[in-house]
Amino acid sequence: MRIDIVSIFPEYLAALELSLIGKAVGAGTVELAVHDLRDHAVDVHRTVDDTVCGGGPGMVMKPEPWGAALDELIEIGPVDTRPLLLIPTPSGRLFTQAMADELATEKWLIFACGRYEGIDARVTEFYRKSMDVREVSIGDYVLAGGEAAALAMCEAVVRLVPGVLGNASSAPDDSFAAGRDGAALEGPVFTKPATWRGLAVPPVLLSGHHGEIAKWREESSAQRTGEYRPDLLQEP
Ligand code: 6GU
Repeated sequence: MRIDIVSIFPEYLAALELSLIGKAVGAGTVELAVHDLRDHAVDVHRTVDDTVCGGGPGMVMKPEPWGAALDELIEIGPVDTRPLLLIPTPSGRLFTQAMADELATEKWLIFACGRYEGIDARVTEFYRKSMDVREVSIGDYVLAGGEAAALAMCEAVVRLVPGVLGNASSAPDDSFAAGRDGAALEGPVFTKPATWRGLAVPPVLLSGHHGEIAKWREESSAQRTGEYRPDLLQEP
């Protein structure tokens, strides 16, 4: 998989060099490049924003630098592959584990990280003519920019790319994984020692009875889901 990220704060994305994603890049499973939007500004001040049409507070990202940055990426990218353009925004469609599963099968993702009040809407409109463009939100709260959201989405997607997770069988157990009906959240987990500060690991987990263990996990998962996320138990 190839991932390009465009931002006015490329340093923000240095975290992608660490841990799981850094290893996937090192192993060649994922090819990652971060680009500075300001390299595509057209004036001496390297301006990327302007006032809101129609009035109102804040600034909007100008379309020209985005057009230049994205055109260049498409030009230098693989010729036979169409990118999927992801635009992180609190006013997007909610990013879910199901979406992460789907994105993990893509060959090429581009993240366009906006700041201020967002990117001029014509950028989305223009690139929709030639590729799949998705405006995505990572939750019902507002961040100062799309970078932290892009980091979160990259991590969620990359760990699902085949060959990235050390223990390939652990993803199906994750909270929100497909098939966890009525028990969307993974329950509590324990390791050794069997007793710590007077607190014991639930004996069933040390019993070796796989059937009993699976039942305990299912129950604790359903209980946690009911307590923390009753919304996930509602019939659609
Ligand atoms: Cl994707 N961007 C911003 N700026 N804020 C958010 C978000 C994205 N998702 C939730 N809040």
